[in-house]
Amino acid sequence: MICRNCKQDVPDGHYCDLCGTMVKLGDEAESVKRYKEPDKDPNETVAVSNRESDIVILREISSGGMAVIKEAYYKSNPGFKFALKVFKEEINLGTKELEKIYKKINILKTFDHKNIVKIYDLHIIGGKINMAMEFIKGKDLYKIISEKGNLDLFQTAEICSALCEALIYSHSKNIVHRDIKPSNVMIDEKNTIKLTDFDIAFEIKNTVTALTGKDFFGTPLYMAYEQHLGRHSFKSDIYSLGVLAYELLAGEPPFKGSGMDIIYQKEKKSYIPLKDAVSALPLEICEIIDKCLDPNPDLRPSLEEVKNVFEFSQKNNLRK
Ligand SMILES: Nc1ncnc2c1ncn2[C@@H]1O[C@H](COP(=O)(O)OP(=O)(O)OP(=O)(O)O)[C@@H](O)[C@H]1O
Ligand SMILES: [Mg+2]
Repeated sequence: MICRNCKQDVPDGHYCDLCGTMVKLGDEAESVKRYKEPDKDPNETVAVSNRESDIVILREISSGGMAVIKEAYYKSNPGFKFALKVFKEEINLGTKELEKIYKKINILKTFDHKNIVKIYDLHIIGGKINMAMEFIKGKDLYKIISEKGNLDLFQTAEICSALCEALIYSHSKNIVHRDIKPSNVMIDEKNTIKLTDFDIAFEIKNTVTALTGKDFFGTPLYMAYEQHLGRHSFKSDIYSLGVLAYELLAGEPPFKGSGMDIIYQKEKKSYIPLKDAVSALPLEICEIIDKCLDPNPDLRPSLEEVKNVFEFSQKNNLRK
């Protein structure tokens, strides 16, 4: 039997271990009908949803290196506005890669956490990948740091403990974010911190860079040391969180430059110690961020430890 969501083999009458769907005999006819043969149209082979033609685009919200973010709604539900991440035409993945992305999307669609931007669906429209997700009215951290320079300890602690909570949740579901950086952290109108672009964006960047030879990573300032060497684990997110926390407090990231320079700095922990870059910071904050930046993943703290230190600081540094 084939799961109608994930397209993987599941014994009749069993739950799919990827998305939890019950797979039973009656479902298969529908699944097979929707799952067209790859040689007919590679772009449609994994289109699980038939809602593509139902999408109405309202306006462009913003853009990044690989995609444009638009505000949209489904004709069948005009009152419900969402953000549509439309990947560039050159982000053209083969059927196999799309299959992999769909499997991940089906896990991400089950995520339900106040600090995580909700994913609704993935659509292939005119050959382009479109990801429908919760529309966040607010600002991303990249813009906030650009405007303010740096943040105080209270705000930083508030953001970092929320990010720890989002990551503890995602790690419990076996998903490493892999792309923590200021533009992937949004703060909405109610001041809720929302982490976005879990895993998929990095996966797409990785695949397209490998396929085309064109670099979609830009300057990977936030990437963990081992990610430069082609490895990653849950601890990679803790490293990136450390880079982000350092930048929020100091107004600039610990590492500068590009290419091999950055990798060397990360390997040698060559950066201005946070206690010298920012005056009067509690020692435990400087120490925990420094530990996050260890090139050896095993020496990094757990997310719970990081969260405890930030929460303690938040409680003891009430905003004046
Ligand atoms: N769900 C959303 N709701 C509202 N605005 C969003 C949403 N997701 C992203 N944005 C805005 O769109 C911008 C571009 O996002 P996008 O993910 O395409 O690029 P990026 O994160 O800057 O870089 P990259 O290309 O490496 O992913 C973000 O910086 C953010 O301001
Ligand atoms: Mg992003």
